[in-house]
Amino acid sequence: MITRRGFLRLIGGSAFSLVSLGAYAVGIEPMLLTHVKRYTLTPPHWPAGLKLRVVALADIHACRPWMTPERIASLAAEANALQPDLIVLLGDYTAGTKLVTGWVRVAEWAEALSGLKAPLGVLSILGNHDWWTDSFAQRAEAGPVQSRKALEHVGIPVLENDVVRLEKDGHAFWIAGLADQLALLPNKAKGRGSFQGLDDLDGTLAKVQGSEPIILLAHEPDIFPKVPWRVSLTLSGHTHGGQVRVLGYSPVVPSAYGNRFAYGHVVENDRNLIVSGGLGFSILPVRFGVRPEILQIDLG
Ligand SMILES: [Fe+2]
Repeated sequence: MITRRGFLRLIGGSAFSLVSLGAYAVGIEPMLLTHVKRYTLTPPHWPAGLKLRVVALADIHACRPWMTPERIASLAAEANALQPDLIVLLGDYTAGTKLVTGWVRVAEWAEALSGLKAPLGVLSILGNHDWWTDSFAQRAEAGPVQSRKALEHVGIPVLENDVVRLEKDGHAFWIAGLADQLALLPNKAKGRGSFQGLDDLDGTLAKVQGSEPIILLAHEPDIFPKVPWRVSLTLSGHTHGGQVRVLGYSPVVPSAYGNRFAYGHVVENDRNLIVSGGLGFSILPVRFGVRPEILQIDLG
């Protein structure tokens, strides 16, 4: 039998555990436990002799107190220290939650990202939040959004349905960047009942000449079932791994495919997708079981 004192102790203990869990999920895991997530693979169509290290940062979601310009600058320094050949940014630079103590201006996070350095350069794509936080672009139903302008201002090219050809060790390959798949918010006045993407996968891949390998950057992984085998590797973010993930299962995933593309390396029909758990968060400032991560991908 449980005594009154025992009962009170139990309640007190549970409340303490809840508070500790809350502190962990709001403060410790999101801010202090960033790690480098490493993958090594030889995807289809990858030429023997081409060794390429790609470092990717996804879903930065700049806001105070969690993702300040100072923290972004230190993440950039960490990315540089991995000695990548190429750095890619997978979208969602702007705040994804209203539960903040202060905003970070686009010029501030872009300036922090300007510290990224790699021999083959830094390339970027945009995410849904880069569109959703730009009311002018929403009204115009067209870019360039502020995130794009800010990235370009610090010398980081932004690929929206565009490609870049790069070379290393005598081998050429292409980086293709997809425009965002959820760019335009639903707008009854404009007769738009749901989100509208600006992505053009076929048009983007049509810009690739020859048969050299392709790495596709697509903020949302939901495009993956449509990505042809021709593409060696697709890199995505957006899901944050669900932000809460227990035993390989995420209860809430912003994807039409649920857990199928929620996190990590997915291989389907000899096609490769890597979904980063990202760095920041959206909706609720919580992370549990999905530490903020910098992706390091070694191809070859
Ligand atoms: Fe996103």
